Amino acid sequence: MSAEPIDLDSWRDLAAAQQPDWPDRSALEAVVSELQGLPPLVFAGECDELKDRMAAVARGEAFVLQGGDCAETFAGATADNVRNKLKTLLQMAIVLTYAGRVPVVKIGRLAGQFAKPRSKPTEIRGGVELPAYRGDMVNGFDFTPESRRPDPARLLRAYHSSAVTLNLTRAFTKGGYADLHQVHAWNQDFVAESPAGRRYEQLAREIDQALAFMHACGADPDEFHTVEFYSSHEALILDYDRALTRIDSRTGLPYDVSAHMVWIGERTRQLDGAHVDFFSRIRNPIGVKLGPTTSPEEALTLIERLNPANEPGRLTFISRMGASRVRDALPPLVEKIRASGAQVAWICDPMHGNTFEAPSGHKTRRLDDVLDEVAGFFEVHRALGTHPGGIHIEFTGDDVTECVGGGHPIVEEDLALRYETACDPRLNRGQSLDLAFRVAELYRSA
Ligand code: PEP
Ligand code: CO
Repeated sequence: MSAEPIDLDSWRDLAAAQQPDWPDRSALEAVVSELQGLPPLVFAGECDELKDRMAAVARGEAFVLQGGDCAETFAGATADNVRNKLKTLLQMAIVLTYAGRVPVVKIGRLAGQFAKPRSKPTEIRGGVELPAYRGDMVNGFDFTPESRRPDPARLLRAYHSSAVTLNLTRAFTKGGYADLHQVHAWNQDFVAESPAGRRYEQLAREIDQALAFMHACGADPDEFHTVEFYSSHEALILDYDRALTRIDSRTGLPYDVSAHMVWIGERTRQLDGAHVDFFSRIRNPIGVKLGPTTSPEEALTLIERLNPANEPGRLTFISRMGASRVRDALPPLVEKIRASGAQVAWICDPMHGNTFEAPSGHKTRRLDDVLDEVAGFFEVHRALGTHPGGIHIEFTGDDVTECVGGGHPIVEEDLALRYETACDPRLNRGQSLDLAFRVAELYRSA
């Protein structure tokens, strides 16, 4: 038991960036008190288990695959949608496990990823100015005054939608759907059916042989039939994550039980801000996004604030530098942190530093830039003798046209065909698998 009660509300006295301007405080308070009475979505013991897995990543003994939508929507919490995402993530994970020869820690960017930081508080269309869309947890995507008005009842819907999604992921990953042989068979289909896939015939054949060998030996471990899977989101709306923070009865310590892992975004990681303070008090494994303007001193102060005990697995830095910056912006951070003796896991988000606007006005990303940033991330860590610990991506299991490039090349003119994201452009299923095989090649070229 901890001696001192931990103050989980000290963040309220600090500046909290990117919070909605709730029009009705008493409605917000009523919702928060209802959320406080609802059951946890995850258990503290599961968060600790993920922390152990992340400690292995920090030691260089495991690799993280974290991904999902930029912004989940309430309408998107369907069985098909969740299944397709999981299917793609598991397909990627097998390839990475085989190539990296280390366990792959699978973390969904789902069951809570409903709030978005925005570069501008309002959006102007045709001379009309309305509040920006901040994610389904806050307001609606439709460009009308009613829909864009922040509505605290949405926090409750976010909780229930997260519960539905998490229930589906638990059923899919424990109920036989995630069987390794089945997932490998899907990869074989990808290799056989797509021009991008054919490049990877050799790798798929090797995995096939490894599985056949295991089978011949009579090895059929439980791990071939079920999958350990964790949830995560950017804990942006502090009223929501605070309301879902509970004291664990085993240890007397607070956990944000809305997800196994939560992270702080690039726009809310101010050292004296509310998010860093709140995160310093919960015991989950946590992440912090680091963009190209981060100084080594800032990163070291974040470590001091968020992981003063230097607990392995507690803190992950998710770098998102951009393909053109990663090779010069990342090394000073990694070098100084390594020299300090701090234990952190490093993950690469190759999405958020590579967004641009196509002539059609669609926000998009080039698969080649995404791949190049991952390659740069590997190069930097290899050169410094540190571990490139994982990737964090925005993807969907469906056949959308939001990012350009890939095996069935999507060009800028195609973007309007199936541009379905509520926020940033996601890799589609084929582009995601392509990425997994390319990362596998990076691993093997080491
Ligand atoms: C995101 O992950 O969707 C996001 C907004 O990222 P960042 O905080 O790195 O900009
Ligand atoms: Co995004």
